[in-house]
Amino acid sequence: MPQNKADIFTADRLLLFGATGDLAQRMLLPSLCALDADGLLHDDLRIVGTARSKKSDAEYRDFAREALEQHLPADRRGSMADFLNRLSYQPLDATTLEGFDELAERIGRSGDEDGNERGGGLAIFLSTAPSLFEPTIKGLRQSGLTDDNVRIGLEKPLGRDLASSKEINDAVASVFDESAIFRIDHYLGKETVQNLLALRFANIMFEPLWNAGHIDHVQITVAETVGLEGRGAFYDNAGALRDMVQNHMLQLLALVAMEPPGKFDATAIRDEKVKVLRALRQVEAGQTVTGQYTAGAIERQAVPGYDDELESESDTETFVALKAHVDNWRWKGVPFYMRTGKRLPERVTEIVVQFRCVPHSIFNGDSSPKAGTRLQPNRLVIGIQPEENIQLSLMAKMPGLDREGIRLRSVPLDIAMPDAFTGTHRRIAYERLLLDLIEGDQTLFVRRDEVEAQWEWVDAIRALWEAESVRPKNYTAGSWGPSAAIALAERDGVSWHE
Ligand code: BG6
Repeated sequence: MPQNKADIFTADRLLLFGATGDLAQRMLLPSLCALDADGLLHDDLRIVGTARSKKSDAEYRDFAREALEQHLPADRRGSMADFLNRLSYQPLDATTLEGFDELAERIGRSGDEDGNERGGGLAIFLSTAPSLFEPTIKGLRQSGLTDDNVRIGLEKPLGRDLASSKEINDAVASVFDESAIFRIDHYLGKETVQNLLALRFANIMFEPLWNAGHIDHVQITVAETVGLEGRGAFYDNAGALRDMVQNHMLQLLALVAMEPPGKFDATAIRDEKVKVLRALRQVEAGQTVTGQYTAGAIERQAVPGYDDELESESDTETFVALKAHVDNWRWKGVPFYMRTGKRLPERVTEIVVQFRCVPHSIFNGDSSPKAGTRLQPNRLVIGIQPEENIQLSLMAKMPGLDREGIRLRSVPLDIAMPDAFTGTHRRIAYERLLLDLIEGDQTLFVRRDEVEAQWEWVDAIRALWEAESVRPKNYTAGSWGPSAAIALAERDGVSWHE
């Protein structure tokens, strides 16, 4: 298995399982085409799609063309014909072993007559239902597609609890070394998420303050306006805690809370993240709020309630807010408030780091503040989407002669990333991740110990809900979730940043 950079190969074959699925249409094909348009795919790279439905190569190319026209802006498509020429398609029912040999032949890795020549490097991407992971692994093994020149990317969900996640991890580990397993959390492919590392570790000014002595609390919000988007069967079986908190939100938390890694590489970064995930304190009763949306309006458009969208009654949470703690020296006593939900008023993902007040105010004293004089503690807002920006609120003197004392106001120091870096285009998170998979860089992929620490913490929350028979509270679509979520923060004198 590849252990160091010299051993890492660039794949010349990419095999996509789930090649006709929603993710392939909306993200994978557009990302690959955009990479190709920018000259980032090796000339020799061939992409083989596979899924259950019968299609010829030509039909799959037509299918891909439609997906690209729908989901990739025209100015990023480059020469679509060249990209489409890289594609071929092989139908396969992954639940049976039949067909894998033919697949191996199709991707040109079936070996010579003696069965020992395996061709170039192969990157496999599994974007199928997790129930297909194990049979797929078996089929790959049977057909010799699991040698040292193969690596595998796994799309979430990786199980629905710790036990099922371990089962999947064990099945994959029975044929692939951890260094060849690329677990995807697409939030790690987002530019501003990576920028969080640059902000923290490429600047001297934040790190000395990045601790319980100077930070009052942290907020992480991932708000969506969308509802089920036709994924009712999957979502209803998951809920917001499994769908968003277990992966994306905990990864964001880990990046905010981790110690500085020794270097920017997969081992160093993942070692630090997993320490945070393992230091998460078990959540207690009263520190979580769950909700489910009822009919309402988003951007003045009427939208149905969850049950209507699902066409059945359900107790699945579409919103969750919680208060977490990282039990270590750095974060002693600092709450991390997290909330996520569907059908909220706006699509926004942001991290708010709320600093503490200065220890003593020289400006007229805080006890009898004149209008505009009260000091506001500094706040750092890292906007991940839809806007990519970083905003630091600072106290500044208001212009004037101030005969009654200096007047102050909080003003934002604002960096809009697209303005700071004009001429670069915003990339789809999967562009970065697919390229890293093809080239073998694991830094932005989730290691087994991280996933399992995430599940362990989330399972304990679900167990708590079950023990207390927690049912989601209703919230109107287009609101910020149940009022209890506001109360969760307000009890501590904290307001959610909106
Ligand atoms: C996915 C979830 O992992 O992330 C979806 O399954 C969610 O339910 C999506 O909508 C959000 O991703 P993004 O990139 O749009 O914030």
